[in-house]
Amino acid sequence: MSQEFATLSIGDQTYKLPIIVGTRGDKAIDIRTLLKKTGHITLDSGYMNTGACTSSITYLDGAKGILDYRGYAIEDLAAQCSFTEVAYLILHGELPTFEALEAFKHDMRRFALLHEDMIHFFDNFPPNSSPMSILSTTVNSLHNYYPEMDDEEDPYGGYSVTAARLLAKTRTIAAFSYKKSIGHPLVYPSPRLNYCENFLNMMFDRPNLPYKVKPEFVSALNKLLILHADHEQNCSTSTVRMVGSSGANLYASISSGISALWGPLHGGANQAVIGMLEGIHRDGADFKKYIDKAKDKNDPFVLSGFGHRVYKTFDPRAQIIKKACSDIMEEMEIDDPLLDIALELEEHARSDDYFISRNLYPNVDFYSGIIYRAMGIPTNMFTVMFALGRLPGWIAQWTEMKEDRENARIGRPRQIYSGNTRREFVAMKDR
Ligand code: ACO
Repeated sequence: MSQEFATLSIGDQTYKLPIIVGTRGDKAIDIRTLLKKTGHITLDSGYMNTGACTSSITYLDGAKGILDYRGYAIEDLAAQCSFTEVAYLILHGELPTFEALEAFKHDMRRFALLHEDMIHFFDNFPPNSSPMSILSTTVNSLHNYYPEMDDEEDPYGGYSVTAARLLAKTRTIAAFSYKKSIGHPLVYPSPRLNYCENFLNMMFDRPNLPYKVKPEFVSALNKLLILHADHEQNCSTSTVRMVGSSGANLYASISSGISALWGPLHGGANQAVIGMLEGIHRDGADFKKYIDKAKDKNDPFVLSGFGHRVYKTFDPRAQIIKKACSDIMEEMEIDDPLLDIALELEEHARSDDYFISRNLYPNVDFYSGIIYRAMGIPTNMFTVMFALGRLPGWIAQWTEMKEDRENARIGRPRQIYSGNTRREFVAMKDR
């Protein structure tokens, strides 16, 4: 195929810039030589139009509501796979064979324990500490306990041991942080349980009240984690790549991704949604009031769980989660008034011109919290759940960045300076 070019005119000069076409037809103007050739940079706040890398992990088409991991439709993966299988796919690029999956699960079991010294960390966070802060801090400090994970000479090739360790230990850290927050004894990971069963057991088993892992919850949790497993370049993933681009280790990079995810405009939205639905419920379900508040530019209130930077027709994850949410409530005969509030709020918003004209639809976070509530997971753990799901994506993106030797560069955006021009310095005594 012959190379296409875009033409840029600045003054009386014209420049030819190559057009890059992805395997699914997505197009970019390659400006990598722009500064050198023209002396200009591009200005793109929020990176709305900036591609920072090429990637073979996730494809999404926001206009058509398509999301694929490694070429497989999210709908198929969510319906037919376990989270462990999808994590393997994202990390290794191919679906596992039976033997490969067994080996991966085996790694996940053998790496699940935390070094006993790390258990003391949990004693020293103040009560009511945010589980996201505990997660980010503890993941960062894994580097001190498992320095061999930095070793690129991993006997299994690449970063696969590191990846399995991080996935297994982060799940343990997440459950421990919850147990500590409620003052209960820690429940250690069991080698007999699969990934999601193990997590639920560590969260809810008690010395005198053994927890019976419910298959409906395991299935819903697998689905939720799969739907969060990667989402190409976004605030947290780009942070992981950016931190890793300086040569920082994987733990430090993932820990930064967790911090980026924490905010209410990103992974923190699932927590914000429940707060919002509870507020509307307490307020007598006055939908008009909240729709009007969301539309009012002088009011900081937004409809949490609505809108997306990329999806402008529907978020395919939200559709799957909405159905999973209704299914689980029915199967388990759970009656949560927040589900009715959410359904009605969606209906009101979707018939309002403000939301229609701006293409604002429920996103992945709108219904996920209601499922987590049904499982007994407290609201302040929701973003931790998101982080658990996103882990394979972050690790795969970090690894892809490391292995892309051709484009290996420290992330370093430019700016347009808008401050003072050079001024004469005045000594303190003369000011
Ligand atoms: N409620 C009310 N108005 C909204 C909302 C919302 N949830 N989302 C966007 N808008 C409005 C904006 O005010 C803007 O209006 P304007 O054109 O009159 O100025 C317009 O819709 C376009 O919105 P932008 O802010 O330009 O969209 P952007 O792509 O920058 O932001 C974002 C996307 C951050 C997700 C935004 O929709 C939002 O804040 N949503 C609520 C928080 C949320 O659910 N975040 C989770 C996202 S999914 C995830 O991270 C996993």
